[in-house]
Amino acid sequence: MSTSNKTLPAKDKQRAAELREQLNYHNYRYYVLDDPEIPDAEYDRMLRELQGLEEHYPELRSADSPTQRVGGEALSAFAEVQHEVPMLSLGNVFSEEELVDFDRRCREGLDVDEIEYLAEPKLDGLAISLLYEDGVLVRGATRGDGATGEDVTHNVKTIGAIPLRLTGKGIPKRLEVRGEIYMPKKGFEELNQRQRDNHAKVFANPRNAAAGSLRQLDSSITATRPLSMYCYGVGVVEGARLAKTHQATLEQLRSWGLRVSNEPAVVKGVKACEAYYEQLLARRDALDYEIDGIVYKVNRHDQQQALGFVSRAPRWAIARKFPAQEEMTRVLAIDIQVGRTGALTPVARLEPVAVGGVIVTNATLHNEDEIRRKDVRVGDTVIVRRAGDVIPEVVSSIKSKRKKGARQFKVPTKCPECGSEVVRVEGEAVARCSGGLFCPAQRKESIKHFASRRAMDIDGLGDKLVEQLVDAGMIHDVADLYSLRVEQLAAMERMGEKSATNLVAALEKSKSTTLPRFIFALGIREVGEATALNLATHFGSLEKIIKATEAQLEEVTDVGPVVAKNIVAFDHQAHNREVIDKLIRAGVHWADIKTRLLGEQPLAGKSIVLTGSLTEPRNAIKDKLQALGAKVSSSVSKKTACVIAGADAGSKLARAQDLGIPVLDEAALKKLLAGDISLLG
Ligand code: IVH
Repeated sequence: MSTSNKTLPAKDKQRAAELREQLNYHNYRYYVLDDPEIPDAEYDRMLRELQGLEEHYPELRSADSPTQRVGGEALSAFAEVQHEVPMLSLGNVFSEEELVDFDRRCREGLDVDEIEYLAEPKLDGLAISLLYEDGVLVRGATRGDGATGEDVTHNVKTIGAIPLRLTGKGIPKRLEVRGEIYMPKKGFEELNQRQRDNHAKVFANPRNAAAGSLRQLDSSITATRPLSMYCYGVGVVEGARLAKTHQATLEQLRSWGLRVSNEPAVVKGVKACEAYYEQLLARRDALDYEIDGIVYKVNRHDQQQALGFVSRAPRWAIARKFPAQEEMTRVLAIDIQVGRTGALTPVARLEPVAVGGVIVTNATLHNEDEIRRKDVRVGDTVIVRRAGDVIPEVVSSIKSKRKKGARQFKVPTKCPECGSEVVRVEGEAVARCSGGLFCPAQRKESIKHFASRRAMDIDGLGDKLVEQLVDAGMIHDVADLYSLRVEQLAAMERMGEKSATNLVAALEKSKSTTLPRFIFALGIREVGEATALNLATHFGSLEKIIKATEAQLEEVTDVGPVVAKNIVAFDHQAHNREVIDKLIRAGVHWADIKTRLLGEQPLAGKSIVLTGSLTEPRNAIKDKLQALGAKVSSSVSKKTACVIAGADAGSKLARAQDLGIPVLDEAALKKLLAGDISLLG
């Protein structure tokens, strides 16, 4: 094996053994116990040291060396592996009645009244056989047809959750461990994102991704894939006795450093089986790996033996399947839905199909890129997936079932709701309607936003009322709010004379506003309060903002190309201009701002916190402070420039005092607003 002619010093040999042992231990802490002791960088340092030693003295390389986990040369094909003990499959049941039948068969077969089962999650990955000889992993094999599998040793060695050497007491001379290799949900999402970024194959689900990753001829690819494993059984055992129950066997495996799930539980009788099923089903989506059901196994090995097998499945175990999360159906049409921010989402209208326990008729196709990538067309047979409360999605289209003449889908260039131009900003996946206030699909949300406290602050105009008014055709845009009359409003559901009168008064009051509030109220994409304020102080008047070019807009603090594009697109829609004119005609007004250079804003960059009850409304004070360049924040930190405290101020005042931050009363606030910053310390 050694090609080296260097003699191996004893101290290096010892150091290599030490490093191997430590690395294997830390690997176990990290992957099996999920409880690392040392930082990743320290692990990497030790690994590099061992790699260095092995490069120098190749005879140091051993099968259980952690350096073997990084993957090596590609194979040209997988070798076959004959399973010494066949790898069986499981019978399935889909209902409680079927489970009752299974339990009855077991009880009758054993002639007992009640059976103790071990209930385990049925992991949705692929079965693996790991052979350990004298505690060292010597072979990993897939299940294949149950009799013959593929040798994937080079790949399983790259999986951190699989120990290269067993630890602990009473390790059998030969031990074949069986379990499931899977890809955690998070790792799956990240892998697919990486694949998309690299224009590589995207996997349909974590199981496919796990199988594809394990069956790589080049193990250095497998090494980059986030695979993990849980052990759930044994095959060959030589040179040691196994425990009397399945549960105790799993604990034995755990004690040898193998990864065993914490979910399995002993349950007696069908009722307890069902209770276990229900509780795991309820947690299905919260688990970080996919499961497709529960496996019930007769716990006692002697009882397992007595029951034996039928064809290729044990009589002593059964899988109780969860409702499937993926089904096949046909796409009847593809519609475009316009969301509240104007985002266009292609939605597939489907031939109704039961998925995950509910009937699904619509599924999202996400966006233009996704639809193109999956190439879903009207008439296609597709796989629909519905996991938990997530919106059902089309996973893939089955191309072999496609009818001739099916045409590729194209996202429209005009909004299907209002005919406005559809814009897709470079680098963004989502295409949007630029109709803003005018688009009916966006109208309700934009009106709610317009009325909100930090925008036009229309007291008494709640979300429900906005929806009712739009549905009743009483308002079409935000400007229509100002022509609502008391008697019209009083006739609405849950409204009376008094609340209608109050609302009209609030509408009247809201007409007197500020330029930053008005800009914010328009609901231009990505123009939040801070940007609205920057725009107002930079340009001074609405007219100037509307006339500004993208380049001029980009001169404003915090306005980048995306925001500038959004503003220009908004201004270019004639109906947006109409709504603004209508608002002004209705009496909405504000004082233009005398523009000053940012450097002249006396409170620029200062963070100020308001607390306690102040005589002037908070929002009014906030507007004034912001106009002077201050940032009004809600929590006190070391960076806070001052705290304005009214009556009955509590914890924020106390914190300011603790931190030695200046505290101002309302008289001092007046001075501050007049530009006197000497009070800030
Ligand atoms: S036991 C003799 N336990 O399900 C029993 N299998 O449908 C053989 N699986 O090929 C398997 N989780 O890939 C067992 N907790 C679990 C399992 C499990 C998932 C898979 C395994 C097997 C398939 C059979």
